[in-house]
Amino acid sequence: MATILIKNGTVLTASDRYEADVYVEDGRIAAIGRALPLPAAEVIDAAGKLVMPGGIDVHTHLDMPFGGTVSADDFHTGHVAAACGGTTSHIDFAIQTPGKGLYHAFDEWRAKAEGKAVIDYGFHMIVRDLNPEVYAEITRLATHDGITSFKLFMAYRGVLMVDDGTIFRVMQQAREAGGIICMHAENGDAIDALIAQARARAEFAPKYHARTRPPQCEGEATGRALALAAVAGVPIYIVHVTCEDAIAQIRQARDRGQAAYGETCTQYFFCSEADYERPGFEGAKYVMSPPLRAAWHQERLWHAVRANDLQAVSTDHCPFGFEQPPQKQLGRDDFSKIPNGAPGIEDRLLMLWDGGVNTGRISANRFVELVATNPARLFGLWPAKGTVAIGADADLLVWDPAKQHTISATTHHMNVDYNLYEGRTVTGAPVVVLSRGEVIARDGQFVGRKGRGQFLRRRPGVPDLA
Ligand code: URP
Ligand code: ZN
Ligand code: ZN
Repeated sequence: MATILIKNGTVLTASDRYEADVYVEDGRIAAIGRALPLPAAEVIDAAGKLVMPGGIDVHTHLDMPFGGTVSADDFHTGHVAAACGGTTSHIDFAIQTPGKGLYHAFDEWRAKAEGKAVIDYGFHMIVRDLNPEVYAEITRLATHDGITSFKLFMAYRGVLMVDDGTIFRVMQQAREAGGIICMHAENGDAIDALIAQARARAEFAPKYHARTRPPQCEGEATGRALALAAVAGVPIYIVHVTCEDAIAQIRQARDRGQAAYGETCTQYFFCSEADYERPGFEGAKYVMSPPLRAAWHQERLWHAVRANDLQAVSTDHCPFGFEQPPQKQLGRDDFSKIPNGAPGIEDRLLMLWDGGVNTGRISANRFVELVATNPARLFGLWPAKGTVAIGADADLLVWDPAKQHTISATTHHMNVDYNLYEGRTVTGAPVVVLSRGEVIARDGQFVGRKGRGQFLRRRPGVPDLA
């Protein structure tokens, strides 16, 4: 029986903060209490440290074919990076091939993870082609196989975008299956017109990526998605919200009583459209969709996560090398050919603690809620994951709120040659990371075992949060 005793720490959850020892037996939390008199194979002294649930990142793209290339982290390198930054579970995206069924995609993505995974992983299913077999597959995936969330794109025509009729029918089927819809909400057709017009004016620099994807296009699509979900009666989660235009739509839907939720991603708090003006081709590092916004939107995002207009913070980790490998260079002469996406799976907790908790923008409890508890509640993982409680998986961070760390591409574990937060020194970092009771990272270095990560079979049903 594998046992670990984490002694003298302060347990931090979404709702509580108290001094206690945490005893782990066979991968689960078996006891929590003051001065627990229990012998253990390993004792971790957490004096002066916090003991909190491991991070759950519900928006990542590992080993994803996109933009004429493949995202640079696979299920091993991405997981190692996640673990070092305190993330112990994530939900990635399996992508349906048009003309094929959803189970074909499930098999493809399971094969990408098997033998490589280090942390636990699940999949949202991206639906691209509503052929007749897909209806039944949505139900079977949600009720038998633990894939309870279905992702749709309102942008990237010819690649991932689907029309409103498809969106609505998938929503209706997901509702029957007890699923939830994840939506990339941007008006793809308006954006494509703006891109064509920019190119006709010979506007090819990275900054035109942002100028051709204005916040109104995000706000409009968010409102449309929410309206369709309300008619279909399905819970909906708007991914990577960047701006007040979209926040306002979600807030209004929630005020109407709709099961509407949203996330933002770390980079939208800390980077802005000014990053597209960096010299040379540097702006390409920040090309992602939706794009970075004018800096004033950042305070609206902080307000939204405080006020519960948005319920989670994820990363949309989708890394492409700048020069090594030269993936971003595919768009050297044309911003519309720059692969969309940026790295971040390792930095989410570090940045949100430093920029959110240390500055007083969010409480430490809200931090836990945004990075772990709400993601678990939204996507059928709670209470096995996302909290510190007896019976829960021992996915735990021993977090040193005083530890300083300088973020850099020269030391990070992500398989990419740049970091959005290069040179920033943060205060607060995990010193021990446990996944199901196994130590997988210590002091920012990976000490886990390749292939130990398990597929997360999630529970269908309406999210466990308001
Ligand atoms: O630019 C991004 N976000 N790339 C990943 C795919 C997506 O839209 O989420
Ligand atoms: Zn997206
Ligand atoms: Zn994404």
